[in-house]
Amino acid sequence: MKRLAARLRSLAPASLFARLTLILLAGLAAAQFLSTMLTIDERNDASMGAMIDYVEVDLRTAVALLDRLPHDERAAWLPRLQRGGYRYALDAGQAGPPVTAPHSLRLLASVRRALTPGHAFTANAVAGDAERFQVHVPLADGQPLTVDFRPRRGLPLSERLPWMLAAQLALVALACWLAVRLAIRPLRTLAQAADALGPDLRPVRMPEQGPSEVVAAARAFNAMQQRIAAYVDERLRILAAISHDLQTPITRMRLRVDLMDESPQQQRLIDDLQHLEDLARQGIGYARTMHGQLEPARAIDPNDLLDAMALDYRDSGADVAYASAGSAPFCTRPGALRRVVNNLVDNGLKYAGEVHIVMERAGPDAITIRVLDRGSGIPEAALEQVFEPFYRLESSRNRDTGGTGLGLAIARQLALTLDGGLSLHNRPGGGLEARLVLRAVQPKVNA
Ligand SMILES: Nc1ncnc2c1ncn2[C@@H]1O[C@H](COP(=O)(O)OP(=O)(O)OP(=O)(O)O)[C@@H](O)[C@H]1O
Ligand SMILES: [Mg+2]
Repeated sequence: MKRLAARLRSLAPASLFARLTLILLAGLAAAQFLSTMLTIDERNDASMGAMIDYVEVDLRTAVALLDRLPHDERAAWLPRLQRGGYRYALDAGQAGPPVTAPHSLRLLASVRRALTPGHAFTANAVAGDAERFQVHVPLADGQPLTVDFRPRRGLPLSERLPWMLAAQLALVALACWLAVRLAIRPLRTLAQAADALGPDLRPVRMPEQGPSEVVAAARAFNAMQQRIAAYVDERLRILAAISHDLQTPITRMRLRVDLMDESPQQQRLIDDLQHLEDLARQGIGYARTMHGQLEPARAIDPNDLLDAMALDYRDSGADVAYASAGSAPFCTRPGALRRVVNNLVDNGLKYAGEVHIVMERAGPDAITIRVLDRGSGIPEAALEQVFEPFYRLESSRNRDTGGTGLGLAIARQLALTLDGGLSLHNRPGGGLEARLVLRAVQPKVNA
């Protein structure tokens, strides 16, 4: 039973639209089929009843007429007396088994009412034909008369019936399709609205119109979005405020430390304060990114941008190489792109010492930027975790690399605002590849 249910489930179409249409259509088609069968059955029954009443009168009249006709005129009357379901013959007919077929039995009862009392008769079925029987009535002068019945159940069906049924079914299918579409559309709109909820979690209002249930769902969805946005806003504001307000006391402390006598202790304090300042700056940066202060998109040449960045790094003594992939305009947010690549290159330099940047075009509307190093890489299990804010590998904590663990979280958040995706991969032969896949941002969205 369970296996049958599982099998049925695996056969069911994937979309709700197809499933609902199938269920409604199958149900309505079955109901239509049953009602058609019932109507035909009723109609046949009614026509059979009418025929039985008719046979009783007709047979009584025919036998009385033949009884009174002179012997040699009877044969000429037989064709005029015959009907669609029975005919007469002036002979003894055929012998056969007793009548058992249901329609024949109903007709036979009518024959009995027509011929008794007054006429002795016998009846038998005709072998080989289920619904055929003969009634043998000797006429008044002893001449044998046989009535050969071939009861037809019901009237022949109209030729138009299959067409009418097909048209009806098509109408039902159309109604099903319209109804299911109406029911599914709000779901689609809801999915689109949820999808459109950008990385900045700004609410995207769903239209509050349509049937009352849809309006209620849209209202609830909009309210939920508002609440999420409000919570996120509040937390980001707190983060930004703390990070910002920390900067003033840090600056004051720095000034005081600068006034201290030079000593190893003073140097340690300066390092710690530098670390605190970095933390505060990164906190503000993260809050700003999450808050979705989107810069407008414009067409730039990413090749120039990356080349200039690599040059800047080399000028400051860092080992950063860039392999050019040819110039071509690409619409994006250059400030955000620069910050993502900066974060990735900084990581590469910090954890591996040297970095290689490669850019490839993946069609007219997409580019892939790879930031490659030959460091220790990241354990496979942690490749996603390192994107969480403040998550740092144990090895990095122990080493004196500094850092707050926000770089990758910010980079991924920025990549989302660039319509892109950021992922990390360990390279064959050792080292890490940070892969940034970008699609061109439509300038009009933020214009
Ligand atoms: N290229 C890399 N090679 C090895 N490990 C890396 C690399 N890039 C990142 N990681 C690991 O991922 C962790 C998270 O990186 P992330 O950039 O978010 O933070 P961070 O570099 O420690 O601090 P910061 O906020 O200053 O960037 C790092 O602490 C490090 O353990
Ligand atoms: Mg980093």
